[in-house]
Amino acid sequence: MIQQDTLKFEIEQLLEAIDFRYGYDFRHYARASLERRIKHRVGLSGLKHVTEMIPKILHDPNYFDLFLKDMSITVTEMFRDPYVFKKIRGDVCTHLSTYPRINIWHAGCATGEEVYSMAILLKEEGLLEKTRIYATDYNDYSLAIAKKGIYGAEHMKLFTKNYIASGGKTSFSDYYVSKYNSAKIDESLKQHITFANHNLMKDQVFAEMHLIVCRNVLIYFDKELQNRVLDLFKQSLIHRCYLILGDKETLDFSCVNDEFELSSKKERIYRKKNVL
Ligand SMILES: C[S@@+](CC[C@H](N)C(=O)[O-])C[C@H]1O[C@@H](n2cnc3c(N)ncnc32)[C@H](O)[C@@H]1O
Repeated sequence: MIQQDTLKFEIEQLLEAIDFRYGYDFRHYARASLERRIKHRVGLSGLKHVTEMIPKILHDPNYFDLFLKDMSITVTEMFRDPYVFKKIRGDVCTHLSTYPRINIWHAGCATGEEVYSMAILLKEEGLLEKTRIYATDYNDYSLAIAKKGIYGAEHMKLFTKNYIASGGKTSFSDYYVSKYNSAKIDESLKQHITFANHNLMKDQVFAEMHLIVCRNVLIYFDKELQNRVLDLFKQSLIHRCYLILGDKETLDFSCVNDEFELSSKKERIYRKKNVL
């Protein structure tokens, strides 16, 4: 018990130091995985105690970069949860098609697979030409991979399966070029995507959006940070436009619950209500 309390205290000190030095407040991240990841980094750094990380964090920005990399869980795949993409092809695209220009924000885009899936879907629905996709994450390592759009060939089987299940209209191999053990995503898709660093802990709204996709990100945040982010999305979204969350995420009991209606439960698709 005493040991656990000491660990808690040490983690508090570390998180305070990070907030003080870099303005990243990880105190609003879910504790269990935070603790696991910090302990892992302590081990890798050959340290005995969490507090020994503090001087490293304070004085070595490269060490902080490593910490950031540890903190970010980048599990993703193309057309992940294909039924969600299938649903987007229907009602969501029909609504998007009514606008002369479309802005879409993928918040927490990780290594880009979800974003390229959206670009492919929009191309097939005839909407990509008038769309700008903003793909953001706070992890620069992931963003660098996303910008390159090169993925291991070993993933293509799963991605192809997902693409077909999502209602894909042609052959998935039309969207990449195979080279040795990798697959490079078609350059023409990239022209419609802006990748940028954006930290949901502290950054602001940057454009009016017709669709916001933020899947499997809020699960890592506590209620307070979830509410901050959802309020940001509410400000950014145009009325009657859509917000899509991950399959374990919900607007229930959030600060914006009254301002959205549930459009599709299984797919976690919400729609911003009209102002009265
Ligand atoms: C599990 S991935 C989700 C990827 C993709 N949205 C999907 O569902 O397949 C979570 C992503 O959220 C990002 N993330 C975590 N905290 C963030 C923050 N404060 N600001 C921006 N992105 C954040 C992580 O870096 C990671 O890339």
